[in-house]
Amino acid sequence: MDDLRDKYLNAIAAAEDEAALEELRVQALGKKGEISLKMRELGKMTQDERKEAGPKLNALKDEINAALAAKREALADAALDERLRAEWLDVTLPGRPRPSGSIHPVSQVTEEVTAIFADMGFSVAEGPQVESDWHNFDALNIPGHHPARAEMDTFYMHRADGDDRPPHVLRTHTSPVQIRAMELAGAPLRVICPGRVYRADYDQTHTPMFHQVEGLAIDRDISMANLKWCLEEFVKAFFEVDDVELRFRASHFPFTEPSAEVDIRCSWQGGTLKVGEGDDWLEILGSGMVHPKVLMAGNIDPAYWQGFAFGLGIDRIAMLKYGIPDLRAFFDSDLRWLRHYGFSALDVPTLRAGLSR
Ligand code: DAH
Repeated sequence: MDDLRDKYLNAIAAAEDEAALEELRVQALGKKGEISLKMRELGKMTQDERKEAGPKLNALKDEINAALAAKREALADAALDERLRAEWLDVTLPGRPRPSGSIHPVSQVTEEVTAIFADMGFSVAEGPQVESDWHNFDALNIPGHHPARAEMDTFYMHRADGDDRPPHVLRTHTSPVQIRAMELAGAPLRVICPGRVYRADYDQTHTPMFHQVEGLAIDRDISMANLKWCLEEFVKAFFEVDDVELRFRASHFPFTEPSAEVDIRCSWQGGTLKVGEGDDWLEILGSGMVHPKVLMAGNIDPAYWQGFAFGLGIDRIAMLKYGIPDLRAFFDSDLRWLRHYGFSALDVPTLRAGLSR
């Protein structure tokens, strides 16, 4: 019996897999197994012999079963260890980029404009889209009777019955952020204010919501010359050309004096826009020297400070730069359009690496 015991315990210890273990089990304890046969022989023994051999055989059977179970568990553990080793994963490795979405042209152009003006020392200011009519109009020298109010196709917010304060508006331009920036930071000041604006208008080049960026620079000796230089630098950087020609056309805005609309020289050969050459002029923005009344509305003393301001349509310059024909498509959320005109999320516009690629 000791021989049997050694034989099976050694074999079990040496078994390399589940199948070998099963084979050993059958060999020892199966119907015709070596130990089962021995148990059958018990019947032929004398009572004394049986008393001695019976418990020993049973103990051996139990011992072999226990060894089989222990080995089975050890094999399973080893298999798991092996899997853990083989399927090991370093969760601290950087992810592989799999960009599927894209950056909307409006976001892209906003980032481009921000990068250019940040380089000239402008920071970004923001204001609310639901704006007081004072910030949107009065503070910008557009009094209640002024025709500009009617021309703006303003969306008015609802006031509760009996509340006769003037209603808030969806801001019709980013110019009210000029006032908020002045109120908040005072002079000197250099900010741009990109954001959504709203007007009740809808056709190929107008949507009820669109985007503008406002610029404002206030200091002791800011002049139209500074305005012209900034805009030239901006247009060159934005359209990614070495030279541009700007034309300042006298104009009128209530919040600037003098006021100028700015055109850039361009050509439309074959339907594509080329900036910096050609015989056409393209209007891109409104600008001027900030009106003293506007400075005062922003708590800045016009006896000491002066500055320039400009406002430009983000969607419009996005259409021009990237050859997008219909403004309405900007806001349709059509995936095919977004994939075609969208930008990689990983190419952040910078002046050094290039604005667009
Ligand atoms: N707020 C004007 C508009 O929406 C644009 C504008 C023109 C802004 C001249 C300015 C400016 O700051 O000086 O049409």
